[in-house]
Amino acid sequence: MKEKILNKPDLDKAKVRNVKESPIVYLGDDSSSFMMDFAKGKNYFIRTYGCQANIRDEESMRGMLESVGFNKVEKEEEADLIILNTCAVRENAEDKVYGEIGNLKGLKAKKKELIIAICGCIPEEPEILDKIIKTFPYVNLFFGTHEIHKLLSYIEHVAKHHERLVAVESKAGEVYEGMPVCRTSRYKAFVNIIYGCNKFCTYCIVPYTRGRERSRKFDDVLEECRQLVKEGYQEITLLGQNVNAYGKDLDEGKDFADMLEAVAKLGIPRLRFTTSHPWDFSDKMIDVIAKYDNIMKFIHLPVQSGNDEILRKMGRRYNSKDYLSLVKRMKDKIPGLGLSTDIIVGFPNETEEEFNDTLKLVDEVKYDSAFTFIYSPRRGTPAAKMEDNIDYETKSRRFKELVKHLEVSVNASSERMVGGIYKVLVDGVSKNNDDMYSGYTESNKLVHFKGNETLVGKIVNVKILESHTYSLIGEIVDE
Ligand code: SAH
Ligand code: SF4
Ligand code: F3S
Repeated sequence: MKEKILNKPDLDKAKVRNVKESPIVYLGDDSSSFMMDFAKGKNYFIRTYGCQANIRDEESMRGMLESVGFNKVEKEEEADLIILNTCAVRENAEDKVYGEIGNLKGLKAKKKELIIAICGCIPEEPEILDKIIKTFPYVNLFFGTHEIHKLLSYIEHVAKHHERLVAVESKAGEVYEGMPVCRTSRYKAFVNIIYGCNKFCTYCIVPYTRGRERSRKFDDVLEECRQLVKEGYQEITLLGQNVNAYGKDLDEGKDFADMLEAVAKLGIPRLRFTTSHPWDFSDKMIDVIAKYDNIMKFIHLPVQSGNDEILRKMGRRYNSKDYLSLVKRMKDKIPGLGLSTDIIVGFPNETEEEFNDTLKLVDEVKYDSAFTFIYSPRRGTPAAKMEDNIDYETKSRRFKELVKHLEVSVNASSERMVGGIYKVLVDGVSKNNDDMYSGYTESNKLVHFKGNETLVGKIVNVKILESHTYSLIGEIVDE
């Protein structure tokens, strides 16, 4: 295959700080007559890994593809175009993708015209991209997180010129408005409010793969939410790597609290947001969450570690005292608040004492749910250059210990719900049990109950009968 390289990622460019203004680009229609013709009768398949940012990007890609006539299929074998939308946050996320690209070799051999594209966060890593380009010569297209809006023109290029295309640029980034969207759910929606991250936590690849913090204009977000309310959506989740930084890069004089309040006032039944960085979380935000019934009383507040020295080495900008005081202010002002967190075990050279501080913090906060990870060195990040004298067995043992501690409070918070009646937004048939339906409570607990198809997308009252660590069993009641 011939090869055209438009751009390749560059860590120095990915690191650029001090961006004063992020351009907002309003896009027009990008559907060429060539693509309308080409897509006729053709199927696409997208597999998305990673966080909500990637899930929302998939919805934009689907919007573009379906606007020219591509048809979505659930099986790779039926597709004429396969897109792997990748995540680079930890090594195991990357390994999954390598396996998947390898699996596509056979399909490509059977169907020469099949177009395979790799996008998302993995192509943004220079050395990894070079490795994939070499290892998997049958991949036709590579593009990054800044190039999503050009998807159709890239496919057109590959189809017309029969050459492989590499288009991955590292940059602070822009905000693109007006991409078509095909939402996965008809009652729950993700709405981006801010892209990228400026925090550069020393272990994290995200700032390099997603660029700098770029807020969407206040009115553009509100317009999207207004439309969703009109279409009958039941839940909006405002998205950003760090939603609390919303507005800091704009001169509109609006912050995240203003945004939350304005969206809550539109009357969406459930409003959520993720992810919150403790450093940017203001008391004004807490007050707004407390004030509006339709803002769910649930905050995902990653702590990462309970030890001040590790937090400093991670570049998190707060210490355990700051964090605990924030949690206290939140709990005081928001009765019944559910809290979840992310924790990394085994940051380079973490001592037993430092790890024990994390256990102590976890026991004190009593989280309702949590995500735990073993530290994974990411090439190009400062932490990856630190020599690490802690072996994997130790990290793995600590990981299990941490999970045990977390389960105590997670269990207790589920137990407390037994006998109570909670509002649940019905998602559909349970993943592991065809006889049951499932959905989430306002505090983000997964509940299974007997239901039927007409309830999907509706909010129902469920009485909790049994609690398991990671889910609840209940029954629908009238009330
Ligand atoms: N912007 C969000 C999400 C970042 S990625 C935030 O700041 O919370 C989600 C989680 O992955 C992080 O909170 C962190 O706990 C974990 N993570 C990120 N980089 C990691 C690494 N190199 N190794 C292990 N876990 C990591
Ligand atoms: Fe990564 Fe830190 Fe940014 Fe979250 S805040 S995306 S952990 S750099
Ligand atoms: Fe993964 Fe990229 Fe999200 S690295 S976690 S998909 S921002």
